[in-house]
Amino acid sequence: MTNKNQLLQERWKSSLQNNYGTPEISLVKGLGAQVWDADGNEYLDFLGGIATNILGHAHPALISAVTKQVTELGHVSNLYSHPRAIELAEKLKELTGSTEAKVFFCNSGAEANEAALKLSRLSGRKKVVSTLGSFHGRTIGALSITGQIAKRKAFLPLLKDVTFIPFNDVKAAKKAIGKKVAMVIVEPIQGENGVVVPDLGYLKTLRELTSKHGVLLVFDCVQTGMGRTGEWFGFEHEGVTPDVITLAKGLGGGLPLGAMIAIGEASSLFEPGSHGSTFGGSPVACASALASIEYLEDEKILERVKNLELTLKLEISKNPMVSTVRGSGLLIGIVLKEPIAKKIITDLQQNGVLANATSDSVIRIAPPLIVADSQVSHFIEVFRKVSSNYER
Ligand SMILES: Cc1ncc(COP(=O)(O)O)c(C=O)c1O
Repeated sequence: MTNKNQLLQERWKSSLQNNYGTPEISLVKGLGAQVWDADGNEYLDFLGGIATNILGHAHPALISAVTKQVTELGHVSNLYSHPRAIELAEKLKELTGSTEAKVFFCNSGAEANEAALKLSRLSGRKKVVSTLGSFHGRTIGALSITGQIAKRKAFLPLLKDVTFIPFNDVKAAKKAIGKKVAMVIVEPIQGENGVVVPDLGYLKTLRELTSKHGVLLVFDCVQTGMGRTGEWFGFEHEGVTPDVITLAKGLGGGLPLGAMIAIGEASSLFEPGSHGSTFGGSPVACASALASIEYLEDEKILERVKNLELTLKLEISKNPMVSTVRGSGLLIGIVLKEPIAKKIITDLQQNGVLANATSDSVIRIAPPLIVADSQVSHFIEVFRKVSSNYER
């Protein structure tokens, strides 16, 4: 008998483009860190829309904020202002700790990085320094500064004047960063590349080098922002401030929202007409973001995130199939001793747990920040059970 997931797979295949392949299951319902597929199977969502659903699914705070906003005012063009965008920009400024910061709203991570790229052109320089293995998005501009050959090769030629240096390599950074460079863009933790964490001091060195040569330093916090690492932004543990922060994913609490925050002198580079977006910073997405931030603050969720990181790292590293556990907060890469990550992901799914493999040997988990202690224990237990089948 054909089940509903299979039927939806066939409909997907015949009507949607093949850029994602055809997903095996179709999710129809969510609550907190749980989701259900079209056949009623329940899963523990340890991927959270890939680090996006920070409050999980169907959170009452979001339902109420979004419902209220859509009832009052759903969309305005950018010819008019609206209070939610102003409130959110003010809140983000407060979180950056900079009274000088200014925010541009868009809808996604790629768009936030596109905005940073355009901003950097207004400095009068064109060169960009990025890192190998980085991921900054799929639009032509964002792809041009993305250091993953497989994603770029079908679309060459991309923008010129981009130099890729090895991530976490101070010597290479010293060589590449000079007076002709407009911006250096780096993820505080390379998420798509397998949750790769640089040595402490790397971001600080980039700050020193960029300041010395008048180069804009852009921290792409699309994946590491909004409390994901246990701090509001993934670079805070280094005690450095960039010139530009890009955000998306968790910012809208599950609704499409991105931001490019320029700090200090960089905040005055855009002028009327420099850039824009029809939907960027819509009242509904901003209302959702404000409600998410308020909830995280009121419930002191960031502290919980740090504690859960410790539990997950401690317990998972005891697993004999695991080589290392890396990452920060609730963005964790489980590095396996053998290239069985994809098999384990399939087994986890069959056992009611969703996560993803960033390569043959790395599993990434990024659950909602509101995940319950019991759900964390459940993940550890199912992962132990599933991986034990591969022990020799
Ligand atoms: C660090 C980083 N930057 C940018 C992006 C692109 O974001 P989007 O898919 O919203 O365009 C991603 C997405 O995974 C990301 O992880």
